[in-house]
Amino acid sequence: MTIATATQAAPAIAVAGLRKSYGELEVLRGVDLEIEQGSIVALLGSNGAGKTTLVRILSTLLKADTGEASVHGLDVVADAAAVRAAISLTGQFAAVDGMLTGRENLIMVAQLRHLAHPAAIADSMLHRFSLTEAGGRRVATYSGGMQRRLDIAMSLIGDPRTIFLDEPTTGLDPEGRLEVWDAIKEVAALGTTVLLTTQYLDEAEHLANRIAILHEGRIIVDGTLAELKALLPPAEVEYVEKQPSLEDAFLAVVGAKKN
Ligand SMILES: Nc1ncnc2c1ncn2[C@@H]1O[C@H](COP(=O)(O)OP(=O)(O)O)[C@@H](O)[C@H]1O
Ligand SMILES: [Mg+2]
Repeated sequence: MTIATATQAAPAIAVAGLRKSYGELEVLRGVDLEIEQGSIVALLGSNGAGKTTLVRILSTLLKADTGEASVHGLDVVADAAAVRAAISLTGQFAAVDGMLTGRENLIMVAQLRHLAHPAAIADSMLHRFSLTEAGGRRVATYSGGMQRRLDIAMSLIGDPRTIFLDEPTTGLDPEGRLEVWDAIKEVAALGTTVLLTTQYLDEAEHLANRIAILHEGRIIVDGTLAELKALLPPAEVEYVEKQPSLEDAFLAVVGAKKN
């Protein structure tokens, strides 16, 4: 069987027994996670839970202490170069160059990736992420939401199969958040697998097919929103019927595991 065939059926991401400490601090204490191709998965966790640590391991930037992780069937350590070719990573701090225009930023990435027709690629990305009008302006003049959208567009050049978005909306105003949410839906619409990390329960609820909660070094819940809500105790009789929010589910699960 060729490698291409082998990776076709593999999950986008598979993690088993992953551990990582920084000195005495045990951040990941046995993380297990499987993500299907083409899904949007939110990795939900409080500040300091280890979300970035897990994303850095999956994107080959950091080595785990023990355990296994693969992306499209490729081991993140043994096949690191192939993993890098299959993914892209966008961090909390936009990697765009403020002195260049949006279009120039996109062209630069396409050139760095040795793609044919960089200008045409740039124009189609500007169109796809509603930046055509702004494309000729220096990025320093963009709003926070526009910069993140451009960053996401840049990370899609070269057609990665999986994209990691590490807290893509942290620090944005409400309008910018909504713009970035639309951009993330646009990414997923064409079948790219998205793993996004967030501290925001409503963001996970709004964007993701599945939600994995990272808490005290482990994935304590991994399921659809409906499955998460089903973990809640049945509602008591109230005058107004109220659907439990993801926040209720999060607190119920975390509270239950803590005792
Ligand atoms: N390079 C490092 N050295 C020491 N501690 C670190 C390092 N990177 C992260 N940490 C610590 O590990 C914990 C998890 O960090 P991180 O993965 O960034 O969490 P999150 O992204 O969920 O906020 C935090 O307590 C953080 O301070
Ligand atoms: Mg982080």
